[in-house]
Amino acid sequence: MRSMFDRIAPVYDAMNTLMTGGLDERWRRAAIAAARLGPGMRVLDVACGTGKLARAAAAAVGPRGAVVGLDLSAEMLRQAAGEATPAGVATPSYLLGDALALPFDSGSTGDGFDAVTIGFGLRNLPDHRAGLHEMRRVLVPGARLVVLEIAEPRTGLPRLLYLTWFRRAVPLLGRLLQRGNAYRYLSESLRAYPAPARVAELMNEVGLTDVRWRWLPSGMATLHVGRVPIAESVSTGDEAA
Ligand SMILES: C[S@@+](CC[C@H](N)C(=O)[O-])C[C@H]1O[C@@H](n2cnc3c(N)ncnc32)[C@H](O)[C@@H]1O
Repeated sequence: MRSMFDRIAPVYDAMNTLMTGGLDERWRRAAIAAARLGPGMRVLDVACGTGKLARAAAAAVGPRGAVVGLDLSAEMLRQAAGEATPAGVATPSYLLGDALALPFDSGSTGDGFDAVTIGFGLRNLPDHRAGLHEMRRVLVPGARLVVLEIAEPRTGLPRLLYLTWFRRAVPLLGRLLQRGNAYRYLSESLRAYPAPARVAELMNEVGLTDVRWRWLPSGMATLHVGRVPIAESVSTGDEAA
């Protein structure tokens, strides 16, 4: 996984724009809005890649806030660190790490994050439920987890476009760019990603509350949001593991 993402890091942003027709930017803006970020908040962006979502979060929390972008791929983080942040916006700090073993204390101690975001990252984790559990663990009570992901539409024109694009055109583009394995993998990881309603169930199972989800414009991406209950007596989902 790490070496595959290291290899695509230099072309990742351009390929994303091409693959989604630029919609990825709009989807990221929706994710930031759903996180309800405000000045001074502490945010963790998991599987941050080249840092687009982390930088958008940094703009939303302002100079008194703090954003950490964490990723498994050193090359992705190198690309992220090379990107400029606009004047007056704090630069996110980038950290090499595994989403399944976040190097932070539990948020229930009060010293965690006010929001965790993950964009196009959850489907890459070998255990989606364990990843959600780990992200929930580092959130403070009342905080939000936002999951942005490409998802397979069930019906209609979006489904036809999705199948043509992600199953046929994207692997071909990858081959043209001599990164065939990575973009074939993308197609396969999308196939293995659970349906949106199941992702919502998993979020409930790990102890999040008020879980909601919706399709984003184009019908090829979903946004899930859940909150950590304020009352600490609520289940953390460990019992159901
Ligand atoms: C499709 S990219 C998404 C990047 C970014 N979030 C965005 O919005 O464009 C997926 C990222 O997940 C990272 N990744 C995969 N498995 C991971 C893991 N176990 N822990 C942390 N990052 C991981 C990859 O290195 C890659 O940068």
